[in-house]
Amino acid sequence: MKASPPVLAIPGLAPDLAARVQDGLTRVDDLILATVDHEDPLVAQASAHLAEAGGKRFRPLLTLLASELGTGVSDEVVAAGAGVELTHLASLYHDDVMDEAEVRRGVPSANAKYDNSTAILVGDLLFGKASELVAGLGAEAVLIQARAFVRLCAGQIRDDRPCPPGQDPVVYYLGVLHDKTGSLISTAARYGAMFGGSPDDVVELMAAYGEKLGVAFQLADDLIDISSDATETGKTPGTDLREGVDTLAVLYARRGADPADARLRELLAGDLRDDDRHAEALGLLRANPALEQARETTRGVGAEAVALLAPLPESEAKAALAALVTSVVDRVG
Ligand code: IPE
Ligand code: IPE
Ligand code: MG
Ligand code: MG
Repeated sequence: MKASPPVLAIPGLAPDLAARVQDGLTRVDDLILATVDHEDPLVAQASAHLAEAGGKRFRPLLTLLASELGTGVSDEVVAAGAGVELTHLASLYHDDVMDEAEVRRGVPSANAKYDNSTAILVGDLLFGKASELVAGLGAEAVLIQARAFVRLCAGQIRDDRPCPPGQDPVVYYLGVLHDKTGSLISTAARYGAMFGGSPDDVVELMAAYGEKLGVAFQLADDLIDISSDATETGKTPGTDLREGVDTLAVLYARRGADPADARLRELLAGDLRDDDRHAEALGLLRANPALEQARETTRGVGAEAVALLAPLPESEAKAALAALVTSVVDRVG
């Protein structure tokens, strides 16, 4: 029997709501696996590779929860959640090529298992599958997904390049996170409210909440890359440092002036592809106050997401959306 997909632990989640969300996630998973099937066995296998490997299903979870502000889970909500997860999956295939990652969701990445060309093309194919699915939800849904994917790709392009001269690197970095991660998580929340029949003001509120939550989610992911190990994340720790992606803790460490941190700053200024230098930099960064400072910023962005929920009337779904922020900000994997 196929295992049920996991639900990211949400503190205090009401049991009846938890059961509906769990059931919704199973439906989303079934739809994803049916959608990625293909007549060519190799294409089918490569397309299902990461979907079958697991993952948190955070974005469909958000779509399902947001739908509960209105009429709740329906076929349309399930299709919207699956469409967002497929778009996310497409971006993971491409991201692992960009980052030369070898492990994803606890299994070899597609680029490691197959090759770069296959990983890129399967990512494109999955994006096509996502668009096909979302097309069944109408032109507005397609437009929203298309705009989110354009933002995601632009964010990924800018993530891979240095901050342009004259710009504040922290402001620039946060802008990149809005695009590369906030855009799709915003869409997940927006779709949930839309297809759960909520009025326009609630749909817009949920889109804004999702965007902030997405930035907090990525900031937490960046912290995890520094401080967690592979058994918790299913990914290789220290990838951002190795690839020269300056995440918030690195930016904070860079701008510090404490002479005690001179060695870390020296390492960060050089190439960290060398194993010894990489291990030394990771060890020093883990012990540096910049890490806690970045954690504080992450909590702050999370608090801004929660504050956006204030105009909504009290409900189990609203409480769950607020608690979801806590589990995102405090997550270790
Ligand atoms: C990974 O996303 C990419 C980021 C935006 C940080 P997830 O952390 O949601 O990955 P899965 O879906 O659980 O594998
Ligand atoms: C990837 O960011 C974000 C997207 C896929 C849009 P990361 O490179 O930090 O994601 P992980 O850590 O590989 O999951
Ligand atoms: Mg990556
Ligand atoms: Mg990461």
